[in-house]
This record gives sequence, C-alpha cells and structure tokens, in this order.
Amino acid sequence: MTTSDAASPSDDAEQHSSTGSRFAEFLALGEPLAEFNAENEGLLTGAGRFTLGFGGDTSNAAVAAARAGARTGYLTRIGDDAFGHLLLDMWRSNGIDTSAVIREPGGETGLYFVTRQPEAGHRFTYRRAASAASRLSPADIPLDVVARAGLLHVSGITQAISSSACDTALHAMGAARQAGTLVSYDPNHRPALWPLERARAVILHSASLADIVLPSLEEGQLVTGETDAEAVVERFARLGPQVVALKMGDSGVLLSNAGHLTHVPAHTVRPVDATGAGDTFDGAFGARLLAGDTPLAAAEYAVVAAALTTTGLGAVDPIPHRRTVEEIRSAAG
Ligand SMILES: Nc1ncnc2c1ncn2[C@@H]1O[C@H](COP(=O)(O)OP(=O)(O)OP(=O)(O)O)[C@@H](O)[C@H]1O
Ligand SMILES: [Mg+2]
Repeated sequence: MTTSDAASPSDDAEQHSSTGSRFAEFLALGEPLAEFNAENEGLLTGAGRFTLGFGGDTSNAAVAAARAGARTGYLTRIGDDAFGHLLLDMWRSNGIDTSAVIREPGGETGLYFVTRQPEAGHRFTYRRAASAASRLSPADIPLDVVARAGLLHVSGITQAISSSACDTALHAMGAARQAGTLVSYDPNHRPALWPLERARAVILHSASLADIVLPSLEEGQLVTGETDAEAVVERFARLGPQVVALKMGDSGVLLSNAGHLTHVPAHTVRPVDATGAGDTFDGAFGARLLAGDTPLAAAEYAVVAAALTTTGLGAVDPIPHRRTVEEIRSAAG
C-alpha cells in the first residue's frame, strides 16, 4: 500500500497467487484460545452448561480475513491437547493455512470462560498462564513465510502474555518491514495482562513499526493520554503508520489515511455480544486492503462485518462471510 496507490498489494498478490508461491496473503500471529461460553446468566459457579467456541484476538482476525475472501495463514504455538486439535480443525475448516503452526508436545492451549450478568455485562476468566503460545520465541517465525505475505497482523495481547512472545511479535514486525510486507497492529490493551507504563512503551513503539494501526477509542485514550478521538488518531498517525482506524463501538470508526480524516459510521444492528467485533474489523479491513480496496472502502466493508459479529454469541461463529456482508450492503443501498 502506498499513499497514492492502495491497490498495489493486491496487484502483487495476484501475480504471486497465480504462481502459487505464497503461503498466505493475510498472515496473523498470536495466541489462540478455546472459549467456554456459559449458558446461564450469572457467576461462573452458576453457569450450568458451556458452549465450546474459539477466541484469541489475532485468530479471530484471521477467521474474519478468511471469510472476507483473503488467502490466510496463522502463526502460533499450541499444545498437542484436545483444544489444540479443535483449533486446528476450526482453522482448516475456514481455509486457514496451519502448516507453520507449532504443536508443542505436552504443551497446553490457553482457555477462557465467558459469563454474563445483567448489569455488569460479560466477564472473562482466563487459563492461559504458561500456555504454549506464551512460549513463542523469535526462532519460531518462518521468515520466508512473513516475507511472502502481503500483510502481517499482530496485537498487543501477544506482546503482553510473555516477554518471549513480545520479542517474537517485534521480530516478526521487523522482518515484515524489511521484506515490504505490510504490518497491521491492534494494540488491544488488556490492563490485567501488563502494567500501563510497559504497555504504553511497547504499543507506541509497535505503532511506529506498523503501516496500519487499529486501536479502540478507550485504549487509544489510555495509551496516548489524549481524550479527543481526533487527537488520539493524530498521535498514532504521527508515529508513522499510513493508516490509523480508531474503533469506537457503535459510533463506528475514525479513519486517518495519510493524515486525511474520515468518520465511517457504524452499521446499525441490535447487538447481543460484542466479543470479537474489533478483531473482525481488523481481519476484514486487512483482507479488503489486500483485495485492492482503498482504506475508506475497506473500512466501509469492515464496519458491516464487525457489526454483524455483535448479533451472535461467541467470538468466531458470528463472523460473517463475504457474501453475507455484500448482501447486507447492497440491501442497505
Ligand atoms: N454495538 C455496535 N453496533 C454496530 N457496530 C458495532 C457495535 N460494536 C462494535 N461495532 C463495530 O465494530 C467495530 C469494533 O468494535 P469496538 O470499537 O468495540 O472494538 P474493540 O474495542 O477493539 O473490540 P474488542 O473488544 O474486540 O477489542 C466498531 O468500530 C464498529 O464498527
Ligand atoms: Mg480491540
């Protein structure tokens, strides 16, 4: 992507895909998780049955990119446990290339439980300490795969789970930059995972390595210290990325493309569970950029995809396929 020609990555992708030399156009790196969604409202102790699903922000983004039509691959470490098996099946059934996923003998895949309370909303309880993904290390990154991708997507959650995973994310971003692979970065700041000062330093540095930065308003405010959405976007844009898309829930997205600001309104829905909306935006946005959309056109697609994910329970199941998004967009005129 360049300022004047947003279509260049996809032109390049077409050339490579016709020769079959690319592993994936949209390549994501991070920690996948198995999700247990409580049937009953209330505390974990009274949750009753759980529905098994999948989560992990960059894995969600990979599914969103694949369903938006991008050739997609995922990089991570999983355990050789049942949850690792289920994740592999889920990625493969979504057409995601898992050939570079490392399966750790004796390793454990991370888990989380989702409970809902009428006033407090969703609560997440994680079992991910010492997960296989937290042992990611820079040597796990297949540099040829990163170099052949059109876009590498990484997030702050991966940087927060362990220092070796943080090193891995930075190493992959550096390799992508060197190879001319676009870097897409979602800070996804989770206060429970790391102290704010460390998060701020890593997130701002990572934003300076990225071509596309995808913060939410709340974390953007926390990290930059600005309150106004425009000021938050401008702070990130000054670090160097060409595109900043500030995600503002049902207020849509404030997009900066080479310093030009545009507000993209949200697609109106009746939300039941916003889990994964930001991740879906990230994946759909990257996929559409790779297909040759301008950042504005990609954001207009991605706000619809993201809104649709809020209409169903769980992170992965409700992520829409391209045909659904296109049908809804054409029905909306
Ligand atoms: N209630 C909603 N109605 C319509 N669209 C929504 C709604 N919530 C989220 N979206 C869409 O999804 C995008 C991303 O959501 P949000 O701003 O919550 O991201 P986030 O905070 O990064 O989420 P996450 O919790 O996944 O990290 C929004 O910019 C918007 O386009
Ligand atoms: Mg987010």
